[in-house]
Amino acid sequence: MQKFIRNKGKIEEIKPFKSKNGKVFARLRGMKDVLPDEYRYWSLISKKINELTKTYGYKRIDTPILENAELYERSTGKTSDIIAKEMFSFIDKNDDKIALRPEGTPGIVRSYVEHGMFNLPQPVKLFWLGQVFRHDKPQAGRFRQFTQIDLECIGEKGPVIDAQLILIAYNFFKELQIDIMIQINSIGCSECRKAYINKLENYYKERGNRTKLCNDCKRRLGKNSLRLLDCKEDQCIAISADAPQIIDYLCEECKNHFVKVLEYLDEVEVPYNLNSHLVRGLDYYSKTVFEIWPIDADDSNVEVSRQLALGGGGRYDGLVEYLGGRPAPACGFGIGVERVILKIKEKNIPLKDDDQADIFVAQLGDQARRKAMILFEELRRAGLQVRQDFSKDSLKNQLEVANKLGTKYSLILGQKEIVDGTILIRDMESGIQEVVDFKKIRQEITKRLNNEIK
Ligand code: HAM
Repeated sequence: MQKFIRNKGKIEEIKPFKSKNGKVFARLRGMKDVLPDEYRYWSLISKKINELTKTYGYKRIDTPILENAELYERSTGKTSDIIAKEMFSFIDKNDDKIALRPEGTPGIVRSYVEHGMFNLPQPVKLFWLGQVFRHDKPQAGRFRQFTQIDLECIGEKGPVIDAQLILIAYNFFKELQIDIMIQINSIGCSECRKAYINKLENYYKERGNRTKLCNDCKRRLGKNSLRLLDCKEDQCIAISADAPQIIDYLCEECKNHFVKVLEYLDEVEVPYNLNSHLVRGLDYYSKTVFEIWPIDADDSNVEVSRQLALGGGGRYDGLVEYLGGRPAPACGFGIGVERVILKIKEKNIPLKDDDQADIFVAQLGDQARRKAMILFEELRRAGLQVRQDFSKDSLKNQLEVANKLGTKYSLILGQKEIVDGTILIRDMESGIQEVVDFKKIRQEITKRLNNEIK
């Protein structure tokens, strides 16, 4: 597509930059650059999640982007889409099979086990934010490199944790003014799930249902039969509509756990939708599973919502032990940051500018610029919110920058002020300028700013 700009009244085509050998580089498919303008959204999201995790006692953890591929094959599961189709993996120089992390949970659990975190007071509540890689088909809201926020609570089996994690996710979206609906289900423990899967497989095999399934589901049947319930193909959705529901097969413990989670959610008034077809595509889940689906005022298309889930999670009581740790029940969720940003943009949610500054230092002439640079450093070190644009020569251009930044005062140094040992204070709102003794400028500006706060 051709792009144009207006240059001194003339329309000119923007030609792509070509390097000397004529090659132009572009980012890889499904990868995204985060440009400075977009960082306002990222700051807002990290501010919100930092606030929430602090309040609910989740501590930040970071794990490496590269891990042994087997970690994911064993935890996320070989038959899951994430591992079977989407994981970026390669053989490194030591002949080890390495993977770019396709999700956060297995690395966090590995870290919990490897660092003996079971010796800490339980539960251990962890918060993680990092890049994730999945070789999926790129489309709006679906990237090959994206960012997840992850909260994991390891070492607690009580249903209050499941409900509280859902509450944190709910608060996160509500406070960002994004309308969502929590989809929730229980997939039981390995024991009660066995009996249910048996029933489910019989259902799909009977009355010729099997022949009508999509090819993926035909392959999954018998290997990962639960996944048939959340297949997105029309013919499979139609067949699954009458499938037996897992809720009817939960053992006493799983049923009680689920009822408690729902009761806690009712108590704190978090709305949810009981979704008997929600199974999540990852092997490690047990009991509670949930997803966060966006609600669009003009869009009742459930398919779009579930394909672009804003978050998802659940309980994984067996994973820590499975990865070699002492048995430790756990629960957590992940949120896709890029999808959250898309929602904020789509809804035009007003953002506060977090680059609010009080003072702008402007200068005219080389001698003034030198003195202004020293003054700027002095004010900055004194903790004042001060900005500049020393590469500009014209005062008009500098004041335009000051205006854009919304500064309250500009301090102006020109040749005359240098000679007189003074400086001008310009009130940016009224435009009134006052001459002040240069030696007293810090005192004077601090007094004005303090007066304003009162
Ligand atoms: P997940 O549902 O695979 O769960 O991913 C969580 C979120 O990541 C999704 O709901 C979505 O917002 C975002 N996401 C997934 N794929 C993409 C993509 N290709 N492009 C952009 N965003 C995407 C997990 O990963 C689990 N580890 C969550 C969890 C934590 N369960 C327990 N603890």
